[in-house]
Parts: sequence; structure tokens; C-alpha cells
Amino acid sequence: MATRTAKAVPAAGQGAKRAKDDGKRAKDEGKRARNAELGRLLSSLPCPQALLCVRSGDVTDVAAVTAMWVSYDPVIVAVYLHPGMRTHKLVNQGRHFTINVVDEAQNAKALLAGSIKGDDPDKLEKLALRLEPSESVASPRVAGSAANYECRVLKVAACGDHDLFLGLVTGWNVRKGGKPVVRWGGASRAVGAALEGPVVKYPH
Ligand SMILES: Cc1cc2nc3c(=O)[nH]c(=O)nc-3n(C[C@H](O)[C@H](O)[C@H](O)COP(=O)(O)O)c2cc1C
Repeated sequence: MATRTAKAVPAAGQGAKRAKDDGKRAKDEGKRARNAELGRLLSSLPCPQALLCVRSGDVTDVAAVTAMWVSYDPVIVAVYLHPGMRTHKLVNQGRHFTINVVDEAQNAKALLAGSIKGDDPDKLEKLALRLEPSESVASPRVAGSAANYECRVLKVAACGDHDLFLGLVTGWNVRKGGKPVVRWGGASRAVGAALEGPVVKYPH
């Protein structure tokens, strides 16, 4: 009697476990398919590729980001940071950062910066980037970038799964001969040739 009961219970338990595993697998597959679709959609919007550098107290960190401009006068740029990132925490604390437009020669290091989390104590050594003082904020610039923007945090807004940081640009440098990198189609790319067309200035 005791043996029959012992056999029946695990059999029923195994069925329930299998159904639960199948449900989880289907849910994971659905999530993967949606992420792939969203990845295809968002990677069709070309974005400048940059290195965000931040110093808060005596802690410095660098992360790969994509960025865009928002206002000409005053100059305001936008970055969107995932709440789990250490740079997110440091920018929130320090209220300033620099955006350093990645030059073609820096691309490998920029991609490395986009794959090493801030909790790795050797991150900055592994990146071996040269940081130099900014003119208007305590966060350093990344030397050799195509352009540097020194920013003070103007606004932070929760936006979906990232937070939007608007940076008021208080100092800048554009390197002559710089070759900016753009992120598009899931890859880092050089900027292409100018296209034919009428000369139209913007802002008007
Ligand atoms: C090309 C590229 C662009 C990225 N853009 C962003 C971004 O815009 N926002 C973001 O939160 N993470 C972005 N990341 C991921 C971060 O750079 C990455 O998570 C980094 O390790 C975070 O470092 P931290 O923990 O020191 O802040 C990007 C990564 C790559 C490779």
C-alpha cells in the first residue's frame, strides 16, 4: 500500500513539473522573439556612438552609449541609461558627465566599455583610455574622441526601461579630422559620403 502511494505521487508531480517547464520555455521563446523584433526595429534608427564618462567623488566610470542632440541654443544633448548601470548611479549622484563621440580609432575600446560592468574593479585599466580634465565639469573627457561635450544634468525622466538624462552642454571640443562612429543595424559604422541635393541649412 505504502509502495503504491509512493509511486503515484511522484508521477503526478512529474506531470505538473513538465507542464510548468513547457510553459516557461514557451514564455522565454516569446520573449526572445519580441526582443529580436524590437532589436531589428530600433537598430534601424542610426545613432551617434559615444563614451559617457562620469566622476562622482573619487569614483570614475566610462560606458558605451548612444546619444542625440535635443536643442541648439542652449546646446542640450540626451542620453538614455539603464537604471542597473553604475554610470546611471554616478550621474545621478554627481549631476554631470561628458559625452565623447567615439572616433573610428577608439571603436574597439568603446565596444569593450559597452561590455564591462562598472562593478569590475579593473574596468578602467582594461579599457586603457586616456582621460583628460574637462573645462567646466569634474567628469573628465576621453582624449582622442571625435568630439567632447561637457554636460550638467538638466533633467532626468523615467522612460520605459531606461531613464532619459538631458545634459546642458557647458563646454565642448570638436577635434579637427575626427572620424565619428555611428551605431546602425547592430554594428558600429563609419559615416558615409555626403549625398547630392540642394543645400539646406538647419536650424532655419
Ligand atoms: C554600442 C553600445 C551602445 C550602448 N548604449 C547604451 C545606452 O545608450 N544606454 C545604456 O544604458 N547602455 C548602453 N550600452 C550598454 C552599456 O555600455 C554597458 O551595460 C556597460 O557595461 C555599463 O557600464 P556601467 O555598469 O559601468 O555603467 C551600450 C553598449 C554598446 C556596446
